[in-house]
Amino acid sequence: MQEITIAIDGYSSTGKSTIAKQLAKALGYIYVDTGAMYRAVTLFAMRNNFIGPKVENDEDLVQSLAKVQLEFVYNDELGYAEMHLNGKNVEKEIRTLEVSKYVSKVAAIEAVRQKLVAMQQTIGKGAGIVMDGRDIGTVVFPKAELKIFMTASPEARATRRYKELLEKGEKVTYKEVLKNVQDRDYIDSHREFSPLMKAEDAIEFDNSDMGLKEQFERIYGYALRVIEKPKKN
Ligand code: DC
Repeated sequence: MQEITIAIDGYSSTGKSTIAKQLAKALGYIYVDTGAMYRAVTLFAMRNNFIGPKVENDEDLVQSLAKVQLEFVYNDELGYAEMHLNGKNVEKEIRTLEVSKYVSKVAAIEAVRQKLVAMQQTIGKGAGIVMDGRDIGTVVFPKAELKIFMTASPEARATRRYKELLEKGEKVTYKEVLKNVQDRDYIDSHREFSPLMKAEDAIEFDNSDMGLKEQFERIYGYALRVIEKPKKN
């Protein structure tokens, strides 16, 4: 059976990573969470005071990018890879609302995107990959055999995200989470370099009123259809 590249793009908190992880597991593919890479660079920027409530120093961040070492380290117990920044596991730190507040700004910087896109193309060059993000089907792998573009209403996404953050013990309000979802939608879709948009040949997938099982079954079905299709010579 041929191995393919699967690009899953879409708005924040549409559950892309949950589906992408399940899909990779079912197909025996590698899963790459590109959002984790932008989040890790953001954490680096926050720790070095390049970005924060009162600062935004893109130039110094760009000058220091060579010092940012990112690595996905597979966790056998969890069954997926975790993000390491300069040798340390930062999975927990990169998922906080604090990092979410700044990540879209960092992801809008051209030099940051160039560095991360190049890494993503290297990781995914062998196919047999499920990669989720915002520009995978448009910029990173424009020739991906299967492209999914996930959407859901901002309210449905904020409700899911709010529950997740509460479960992790973060003290947040629903209003704050909804605002973050809306702000990130705006910045991600209006930035100059590779803005979030649906690739022409992507399947639009609205999961506002869909449970996880149904989402997985449908997307797995799309994947099998492509994988089992005889290759044209
Ligand atoms: O998928 P996520 O919410 O963890 O992504 C965090 C941010 O990173 C998101 O607001 C936009 C940015 N991002 C991006 O610009 N391009 C990607 N391929 C992945 C994420």
